Amino acid sequence: MAWRLEPARPDDLAPIAALEAAVFREPLSQAELEALWARPDVTYVVFRDGPRLAAYFGFQVTGPTAHVISNATDPAYRRRGLGSRILREAEPLARAKGARWYLGEVRVSNAEQRRILARLGWSELGVCPRFFRDGEDAVVVWRLIEDGR
Ligand SMILES: CC(C)(COP(=O)(O)OP(=O)(O)OC[C@H]1O[C@@H](n2cnc3c(N)ncnc32)[C@H](O)[C@@H]1OP(=O)(O)O)[C@@H](O)C(=O)NCCC(=O)NCCS
Repeated sequence: MAWRLEPARPDDLAPIAALEAAVFREPLSQAELEALWARPDVTYVVFRDGPRLAAYFGFQVTGPTAHVISNATDPAYRRRGLGSRILREAEPLARAKGARWYLGEVRVSNAEQRRILARLGWSELGVCPRFFRDGEDAVVVWRLIEDGR
């Protein structure tokens, strides 16, 4: 299947909220997602399988930093490379908005995402104790967004 990265539309926000609720311990609500999606400094991109949302990624650009809000792949579409591709294929969008690097926080227990990020060339900068509301530590992760020059 030829996946095409697309900007999220308003009708993607309910399935994104449903996926957030299914996979995250501290999910964003649909209202929070709507408020973020409406901001000019926030970008949400998706992969769709026909009408069905397969994966999404949201980030917020502040100066040179594209801060990862969250990304997830629907469990039915995992292990097809979408979680990796969505981060890579959004890089030119983040770069066009002025970002020079991605920055994110990943739960120390999220081995799958940490492995994916390592493979994509992200660095683990350090651990922030009790970053998440439930007390789990975060690994702060960073990746240079290359210019393509
Ligand atoms: C983390 C997450 C986004 C990964 O999504 P994904 O679409 O499955 O990611 P990928 O397919 O790129 O990679 C996942 C694994 O599948 C493997 N894979 C990728 N393409 C594959 C293929 N064609 N065939 C078989 N395996 C494949 C990768 O090698 C990787 O395996 P590894 O962990 O053993 O190295 C997904 O598990 C998820 O939504 N988790 C919950 C939310 C979350 O933690 N988000 C990140 C924090 S914000």
